[in-house]
Amino acid sequence: MTIMDQPREHLASAPARAGSPAESSVLRSVGGLAVQEDAGPVLDARHLKKRFVRDGNSLEVLADITMTLSPGEFAAIIGPSGCGKSTFLRVLAGLLPYDSGDVRVMGAPVKSPRPEVGFMFQGLALLPWRNVLQNILLPAELVGMDKELASDRARVCIDMVGLTGFEKYHLREISGGMRQRVALARMLMTEARLLLLDEPFSSLDELTREVIDIVFMDVCLKAGSSYLMVTHSIYEAVLMSDKVFVMSRAPAQVIGAVDVALPKPRTRETVSDPEFVNAANEVRKILETSS
Ligand SMILES: Nc1ncnc2c1ncn2[C@@H]1O[C@H](COP(=O)(O)OP(=O)(O)O)[C@@H](O)[C@H]1O
Ligand SMILES: [Mg+2]
Repeated sequence: MTIMDQPREHLASAPARAGSPAESSVLRSVGGLAVQEDAGPVLDARHLKKRFVRDGNSLEVLADITMTLSPGEFAAIIGPSGCGKSTFLRVLAGLLPYDSGDVRVMGAPVKSPRPEVGFMFQGLALLPWRNVLQNILLPAELVGMDKELASDRARVCIDMVGLTGFEKYHLREISGGMRQRVALARMLMTEARLLLLDEPFSSLDELTREVIDIVFMDVCLKAGSSYLMVTHSIYEAVLMSDKVFVMSRAPAQVIGAVDVALPKPRTRETVSDPEFVNAANEVRKILETSS
C-alpha cells in the first residue's frame, strides 16, 4: 500500500506518547537484562524542517517530514543523492538541531544524543588497535558499566552476531563482513531501542552484504530493536523493512511509504515472494517520480 501525504487524522490517532501514566508497559529481555518497554512509538517525528545557512545563503534541506516507527518495526529510507537523508538521520540522532517540528524517541524530545538511540554511519569508527572484544566493550567502558555485567553482555552480543571464537582477533585479521559484525555487536551493547543506519553496508561486496542483511535483521529481531536505515538499494530496502519511505529531491519530503507485508524472520527466499516483487516495483515507481 502506498500512503501519499499521510492525513493529519492518522497522526492524531497515533498511540499515546510514552511517559503518560495510563500507558501500559511490558518487560523485555535483552542479553539477559530486563528492560522496561513503553507502548508508544519508538520514533515520532512530526513536521520537521531544517535549513542550512552558509555564507549568507540559506539552503532548505528538510521541507516537512513526518515519520513514525512502532516498537520492533524495521524501516528504510530511499531517495535521490543529496536530498537530505543523512541530515534527517543526524537530526533524529540528536547530532544536528532542527528549525521547527518535533522529534521524540520513546516519547522523549530529542535535543542531544540519547542512550536509546544507536547509530552506525558509513565509516564504522572501530578502533584498529583494539581487538574484537575490546572494540565491543567500548560503549560499556564509556558509560562505566560494571565489568562483570559488561563481559556477560558482550558474550551475548558476540554470540548474536556469530563472532564467538574471534574475541581476541585484531581488526586487521578479520574480513570486512566480520568488522561489520563487530560494529553491530558494539551497537547492541548500548541497549539502543532505535538504530539509525546511514548506508551501513554500502562498502561491502554483494555476497557479504546479502549475508549481513539477514544477520542484521535476525539480531534486531532477537534484541527487539527497531531500525531506520538509509540505503540506495531497492532490493535491500524491501528485504529488510516493514515499511519503505521514499523521499523527494531536495528539499526532502516523504513522497510515499510502501508497506512490505512479509513475515519476519526473512530469508534469501523472501525475494522470490510475489509480495516482495510487488513492493519493490512500487518503490521503483515512486522513486521514478522523484528523479
Ligand atoms: N553541515 C552542512 N552545512 C551546509 N550544508 C550541508 C551540511 N550538511 C549537508 N548539507 C547539504 O544538505 C544537502 C543534503 O545533504 P545530505 O543530507 O548529506 O544528503 P543525502 O544524505 O540525501 O545524500 C546537500 O546539499 C548538502 O550539501
Ligand atoms: Mg547521505
